[in-house]
Amino acid sequence: MGRPHTEFIAAQRLPWEKVPGDARADCQAKILSIDPERGDCSLLVRYPAGWRRGAEVLGCDEELFVLDGDLTIDGHPYREHGYAFLPAGHGRRDAASRHGAVVLTFFSAWPRLASTAIKSNAPAIQGLDSIAMDWDTKDIDPGLAFMGIRRKTLRVNPEFNQRSTFLIATAPHNHPKGWKCPTLTHPCVEECFMLGGDLTGPQGVLHTGTYFWRPPDVPHGPFGSLNGSLSLIRFVYGRHINVWGKEDVPYTFTPEHRPVLPAHLAALGREPYRGTMPY
Ligand SMILES: [Fe+2]
Repeated sequence: MGRPHTEFIAAQRLPWEKVPGDARADCQAKILSIDPERGDCSLLVRYPAGWRRGAEVLGCDEELFVLDGDLTIDGHPYREHGYAFLPAGHGRRDAASRHGAVVLTFFSAWPRLASTAIKSNAPAIQGLDSIAMDWDTKDIDPGLAFMGIRRKTLRVNPEFNQRSTFLIATAPHNHPKGWKCPTLTHPCVEECFMLGGDLTGPQGVLHTGTYFWRPPDVPHGPFGSLNGSLSLIRFVYGRHINVWGKEDVPYTFTPEHRPVLPAHLAALGREPYRGTMPY
């Protein structure tokens, strides 16, 4: 079935609820998107202060990026913007959060406890402090040069040997030359969580805490930014290739708010979020 096109929803609008599956029953989550059959999901997981866990194994990949607070897994400390990828079957000795944490988390299937018999070929990435990493400007598509893009690669997907999870910063005052350019399409899912600033596209203005899940082969853009932006992007379920449209599409910093939303989010996303909460 897959996950429905969700472009876009402010996390601030979503309720805290039970974490799907059984692996984080003592935490709460905002469900950004989920496949109701396979259970793969993107969540904000809220760990309470004093949370502790002994040895455990999950039956799915867990990819995490700390938004706020502290989390320690197997002696690796994660603070704001700390990142990890723990593949299915990866045994953990212990984990804890002293002051509590809110963690952007991607599970590749229902987040359930499992035995070590499950093995993934994907290598674990642990203890990455993204704030300490250098920005790079390698391999930017010339068609996106106007955005002033810089990136930090968090994970390379070994299946395609290409960057699949990364931070992307775009410059302020970036817009297509002449206020028009073609759309872009990828044969894979593109997923985004806004960490700061603003990004403006045809569905509206994405601010901090905004999320989208765009299925493969959906033409999108153009995008630009008035004040600059910082976001986490994932390209999943396929190889990332840029396929440009043939015709120019007009661009504006002041589009109408008209997100594409599944029925269960339609009411929550009808109006732009104008508050000051970060998520
Ligand atoms: Fe894209």
